[in-house]
Amino acid sequence: MQRAKSTLPRVYVTRKVPPEGLKILRQSGQVEFELWDSDDPVPRSELLEKVKGVDGLLCMLTEQIDAELLDTAGPNFKVLSTMSVGFDHISLDEIKRRGIRLGHTPDVLTDAVAELTIALLLTTSRRLVEATHEAKTGGWGTWRTMWLCGYELANSTVGILGLGRIGLAIAERLKPFKVKKFIYTDVTPRPELASQINAEYVSLEQLAKESDFLTICCALTPETQGICNRKLFSQMKSNAIFINTSRGGVVNQEDLLEALSTGQIAAAGLDVTTPEPLPTDHPLFKLKNCVILPHIASASYATRNAMSALAASNLLAGLWGEPMPKELKL
Ligand code: DGY
Repeated sequence: MQRAKSTLPRVYVTRKVPPEGLKILRQSGQVEFELWDSDDPVPRSELLEKVKGVDGLLCMLTEQIDAELLDTAGPNFKVLSTMSVGFDHISLDEIKRRGIRLGHTPDVLTDAVAELTIALLLTTSRRLVEATHEAKTGGWGTWRTMWLCGYELANSTVGILGLGRIGLAIAERLKPFKVKKFIYTDVTPRPELASQINAEYVSLEQLAKESDFLTICCALTPETQGICNRKLFSQMKSNAIFINTSRGGVVNQEDLLEALSTGQIAAAGLDVTTPEPLPTDHPLFKLKNCVILPHIASASYATRNAMSALAASNLLAGLWGEPMPKELKL
């Protein structure tokens, strides 16, 4: 049933969303929406102004959704849809307390994130950034026996911290590289997922000690905040490669910096940091054995469009009181 414009729910969209999502919002004709029409995040003061009285919000991972914002939005606010799988930017307690429904975008980004993780892992372990730099700047003399040697996946042990959809997708892609063994740790064993890659459940300490490649795939929660710290790095092998495409907050960056500069571990590939963007004068950028990407794991055209479409569909379903395609039940 079509509603009169004046009775349409009002929503605010915090970014220029990819075309698929925008199309869904426009074509529904059932929502009055205003958009921060920019590629850059909406300033907090503007966001607080715009959320006053809205029924719903479609946000990105760059917006802090906290008590202040929800109080400012007021009692009409009933649906939050984030165009991200991660939800560490959202105060879940506040959302739950207010009975607000929350949608996010799992599954649609799994392939893109897994692909990027493989690319980052190989770039880091085979020193591709250093190699292209040397080739371009005259460092390439003659063929040398041990020059720019790295570490290979064949016969290696790959550790996964947080075995969910993404961890599994990464492992499936790594299998053909002749990995010898997959090990993982998580809050509890995940036998259904683990059996698909023949992965063994181990303690965090064992994960650190045995992994040649350690890939971080867990969500950022109070329990995982800073879990990759001095203790963990000190247990790792000196030839180990550390890869993080989850959230910067799971890593104690000072401790990682020390582990990389002292040769405690061989190298790190990071798609996520604290803060983001990482200041260009940050000491991690000075290290040859650290490859840093600007949080692009899900950045393929197809995936970003799919994320925006899912975020828009979650929002609309929530507003109509229907089941959301991907609702986070709190
Ligand atoms: C997410 O969705 O949480 C990723 O970090 C960005 O795509």
